[in-house]
Amino acid sequence: MTEIKLNKVVKAYGEVEVIHGIDLEIHSGEFVVFVGPSGCGKSTLLRIIAGLEKVSGGEVVIDGEVVNTVPASERGLAMVFQSYALYPHMSVYKNMAFGLENAKMPREEIDKRVTEAARLLQIEPYLQRRPKALSGGQRQRVAIGRAIVRDPKAFLFDEPLSNLDAELRVAMRKELAGLHAKLGGTMIYVTHDQVEAMTLADTIVVLSGGNVAQAGKPLDLYNKPRNTFVAGFIGSPRMNLVEARVAANGTGFDLVSGAQTIRVPEVPGLEAQSSATYGVRPEHIAITGEDDADVTATVELSEQLGGETYLYCSADGLPQLTVHQLGQLPVERGQVIHLKFDRSKMHVFGADGNVLANGLPT
Ligand SMILES: Nc1ncnc2c1ncn2[C@@H]1O[C@H](COP(=O)(O)OP(=O)(O)OP(=O)(O)O)[C@@H](O)[C@H]1O
Ligand SMILES: [Mg+2]
Repeated sequence: MTEIKLNKVVKAYGEVEVIHGIDLEIHSGEFVVFVGPSGCGKSTLLRIIAGLEKVSGGEVVIDGEVVNTVPASERGLAMVFQSYALYPHMSVYKNMAFGLENAKMPREEIDKRVTEAARLLQIEPYLQRRPKALSGGQRQRVAIGRAIVRDPKAFLFDEPLSNLDAELRVAMRKELAGLHAKLGGTMIYVTHDQVEAMTLADTIVVLSGGNVAQAGKPLDLYNKPRNTFVAGFIGSPRMNLVEARVAANGTGFDLVSGAQTIRVPEVPGLEAQSSATYGVRPEHIAITGEDDADVTATVELSEQLGGETYLYCSADGLPQLTVHQLGQLPVERGQVIHLKFDRSKMHVFGADGNVLANGLPT
């Protein structure tokens, strides 16, 4: 069982600091997923934990021991990269056994581990094949098998599924979830895929420009984003975020964006004459009658998927609004519709981008 802790970890390449003092606690057996835009430091942080990059400041602690000066080979972690380069001239068996042979492990023990990993990953029939005679998904499983046989303290995955086609990704995603359930090991997983993050993670860590924007359970991040960055990042399609001026209206506030005014109740921390951002997810916008509407908008694009419908709408003074409705909705491009925002699911952020309310009283 393995705990990993980062204390004020800083990383600079020359003059340029790319990780700005990250604190993080990863519990034993936890599946942690790092997400964030390209260049935010996901791989760097993973490589720091693995011991492939030195920190410029702070501490990496594994099971209570500061490992800053412990080389990667002695940290007992296994990393699976996006480009998982198998040895082309070796059989699948040999690819998995190679590291253990180098470590002078007894032959029977190697055989036991490789056989067990192959069984777990369902690649037993291919053990004598070369990697080029395998499909992408089978190769990916060999790469994961190579990590499993080492019986590492923790698994570090850097976008391990991004080379696979969509169908295979879904299959491998389910296998990884099953693998974690069986092995119970500590896992840190980097991905760009929202669904992978939401479904695999016990904890999602959202990184932004070398800082942690928020860390928490997937649905907590979805329901209670702490700032506009996380609000816009978690969820696909993304939350509608609208900048507004705040005006008092007697009982609450008017959020004014150009020609559009949204009335909301009192929000603690919100001040008249300041600016704010409000957010509403596509599934929290209802199509309603004119009298009841917050916004009247024109449909610019209607995506009919059969089981669900996405409408992309424009209204004077607002950014394009995405509306999600279950089922089929006979709405066409150019049509004018009336929209109502579910106050109980609306988010309000202050001028600094930090949250004032996740959900408003109704
Ligand atoms: N060896 C290096 N020298 C200088 N800068 C680097 C080096 N490696 C990474 N960086 C910079 O550090 C920042 C973080 O890079 P990193 O690879 O961790 O991003 P990432 O979040 O993994 O992005 P992606 O999603 O594109 O893989 C980037 O701005 C990158 O340019
Ligand atoms: Mg990366």
